[in-house]
Amino acid sequence: MKLCHLFLCALSQLALVAAQSTFTPARPPAIPLAVKSPYLSTWINAGSDGGNGGYLAGEWPVFWSNQITGWAGLIRVDGTTYTWMGSPGPQAVTQTAFQYTSTKSIFTMDVGGKVEMNITFLSPITPNDFKRQSLVFSYLHVDVTSADGKAHDVQLYADITAEWISGDRSNIAQWDYGQAGGVAYHRVYRQTQQLFSEVNDQSEYGYWYWSTDQVNGLTYQAGPSTDARNTFESNGTLPNSKDTNYRAISDNWPVFAFAVDLGSVNESPSSTLFSIGLTQDEAVQFAGSDGYDPVPSLWKSYFETDLAAVEFFHKDYSTSSQLSTNLDNQIAQDAIAAAGQDYLTVASLSVRQAFGATQLCGTPNATYLFLKEISSDGNVNTVDVIFPAHPVFLYTNPILLKLLLDPLYENQESGKYPNTYSMHDLGAHYPNATGYPAGNDEEMPLEECGDMVIMTLAYALRSKDTAYLSQHYAKLEQWTSYLIDDSLYPANQISTDDFAGALANQTNLALKGMIAIKAMSVISSLTGNEGDSKNYSSTAEEYITQWQTLGVAHDANPPHSTLSYGSNSSHGLLYNLYADKELDLNFVPSWVYDMQSKFYPTVENKYGVPLDTRHTYTKADWEVFTASIASKSTQQMFLKDLATWINETPTNRPLTDLYDTETGK
Ligand SMILES: *[C@@H]1O[C@H](CO)[C@@H](O)[C@H](O)[C@H]1NC(C)=O
Ligand SMILES: *[C@@H]1O[C@H](CO)[C@@H](O)[C@H](O)[C@H]1NC(C)=O
Ligand SMILES: *[C@@H]1O[C@H](CO)[C@@H](O)[C@H](O)[C@H]1NC(C)=O
Ligand SMILES: *[C@@H]1O[C@H](CO)[C@@H](O)[C@H](O)[C@H]1NC(C)=O
Ligand SMILES: *[C@@H]1O[C@H](CO)[C@@H](O)[C@H](O)[C@H]1NC(C)=O
Ligand SMILES: *[C@@H]1O[C@H](CO)[C@@H](O)[C@H](O)[C@H]1NC(C)=O
Ligand SMILES: *[C@@H]1O[C@H](CO)[C@@H](O)[C@H](O)[C@H]1NC(C)=O
Repeated sequence: MKLCHLFLCALSQLALVAAQSTFTPARPPAIPLAVKSPYLSTWINAGSDGGNGGYLAGEWPVFWSNQITGWAGLIRVDGTTYTWMGSPGPQAVTQTAFQYTSTKSIFTMDVGGKVEMNITFLSPITPNDFKRQSLVFSYLHVDVTSADGKAHDVQLYADITAEWISGDRSNIAQWDYGQAGGVAYHRVYRQTQQLFSEVNDQSEYGYWYWSTDQVNGLTYQAGPSTDARNTFESNGTLPNSKDTNYRAISDNWPVFAFAVDLGSVNESPSSTLFSIGLTQDEAVQFAGSDGYDPVPSLWKSYFETDLAAVEFFHKDYSTSSQLSTNLDNQIAQDAIAAAGQDYLTVASLSVRQAFGATQLCGTPNATYLFLKEISSDGNVNTVDVIFPAHPVFLYTNPILLKLLLDPLYENQESGKYPNTYSMHDLGAHYPNATGYPAGNDEEMPLEECGDMVIMTLAYALRSKDTAYLSQHYAKLEQWTSYLIDDSLYPANQISTDDFAGALANQTNLALKGMIAIKAMSVISSLTGNEGDSKNYSSTAEEYITQWQTLGVAHDANPPHSTLSYGSNSSHGLLYNLYADKELDLNFVPSWVYDMQSKFYPTVENKYGVPLDTRHTYTKADWEVFTASIASKSTQQMFLKDLATWINETPTNRPLTDLYDTETGK
């Protein structure tokens, strides 16, 4: 007989009740579930300000802007029903592990000690395969095995609500059910389609497909949530019925459910695949060179019908999963080699999110990548939002950067924008890339002219595409002439950090302008304009010489660059120095790099270095830009603080680029 000490017994029982999941490599503020485009963006809140700590069961998945996109998962084991996703009612499974890669979120669940589940959410990324990348779809793959060596009778259930189809729950949903080539699907959509419209950032048109394999033992129901979930709980099947009382999303909540009878489950995995996605024939309206046109979703060029796309995507899981695993592995290897695990923790969480702000549109002959400025104001292809994201596109496929810049060039080169400096964005709200014929976009002239010149050269160098530089030479010259006028003593204006307010003589902004003028001298030289090249180069050299006095607090201890000229006690992240290294210009003297690397650790807070002396908040993107050009030890400091923040922040929304370095909020 084994006697157990009272205290230890109590402890082990507590541990059973409050079993904690592991989180590898970190517990993100929100866990990406289906994150593929501005409109397919569903997460589970994790941070303690409203999230449940990173558990798939027990709270509802949400759209990025925080309204629920109902997604429920149940599993019935030997007649007892448990919840594995969402909050539909039955007791939750015990989550034992969570892991993320660049494309996957994987949960491991213990179901009453009887069976184990691996639940994989895969939002595929195929940067070099536009047919696949153009599809606005995501996978949910569930593996079940016996956990105790015995066979168990198992049924699996998953549903979506109509909350996916509109941001207004009083809108009327319509739906149907069918099969295509062995794929069973629920199709759900707004009865009144509103082309190019949004409510609460959700799209108000197109068709949502929620699919699984047409296997033996599959049953379905489209009907009230309580009916479908209760029927499954009591019986393990669904009645293969379709409610045709089309009604408001919140009116007796219609759900679209599948149940799969896995039968007797033993130690070999029993797998079920679901997929979810959106088809829209027309994705964006764009004011391009031909006028004002609706632009199709790119997948329309590869598939005759929605159903052909749905069927292809669903059956493509093994290939798609392998391609994504290859990308995951490549990013893991390169990130570790570049800067270690903390960098991988940050980078792998960012990749899906960066790609998930974009959609491939147009045709193979005229392809565009449109990007939504998510969580601020919805602007389209914002130049200074492409800028912090551009390294991930350069790294995965530089053509993607070109496809982001192309529509900006096309609009401005066809005379649709009146200002001499670069436009800030291509349209006030996605998916309307309709430009600013009156020139009344947000005015951020130095920032955007600098970004356009720098990113254009970055693309051309990576792709060895000097023809692109020749094609846009006139526009690049026009923007550079603005930089020549404004970079030495920048006028009172906002930078990309517009929330921090306007300021004259911003040291970091001036540096961007000067680096861009130097970059223009390279562009001139690559395109055979040697005279221009010499002129730009000498202007840039003259400016940077003055900047070294104007923008540096030499007498400070330790010395550092200032936030603005002459404010010797001010400082900020000198993130624009990044472009000097990125473009291999060797323009800014190395002592500036060394000075900044020594300085940042002296102003480090718990979760990083503040953006500047005006506030305690920082920008995660600019911290990584700064880290990438810092000394090894300062680089590691930045990355460690950011990875710690990811793990500890109480915020419960997708990875932000703006947070407080003291509180982590
Ligand atoms: C879940 O994944 C782990 C790690 O790959 C594996 O060891 C385990 O057998 C899997 N369990 C199921 C249910 O597939
Ligand atoms: C886009 O423009 C159309 C008019 O062409 C308008 O109905 C729609 O509301 C706009 N969409 C957004 C998100 O502003
Ligand atoms: C319960 O499930 C059985 C099959 O397992 C099925 O024949 C029966 O119709 C179901 N009953 C209801 C009420 O759905
Ligand atoms: C697309 O480009 C190819 C090759 O340049 C050309 O043959 C084809 O006619 C173009 N198609 C359209 C629709 O413009
Ligand atoms: C910018 O700095 C220069 C040199 O310190 C100064 O002369 C000028 O007044 C400043 N401009 C503004 C708008 O403060
Ligand atoms: C150099 O650039 C300046 C400023 O744009 C211009 O005024 C000047 O004419 C240029 N000189 C040459 C030799 O191109
Ligand atoms: C700032 O420091 C520089 C040298 O580091 C000095 O020349 C300048 O006078 C100082 N400015 C102010 C306002 O103290």
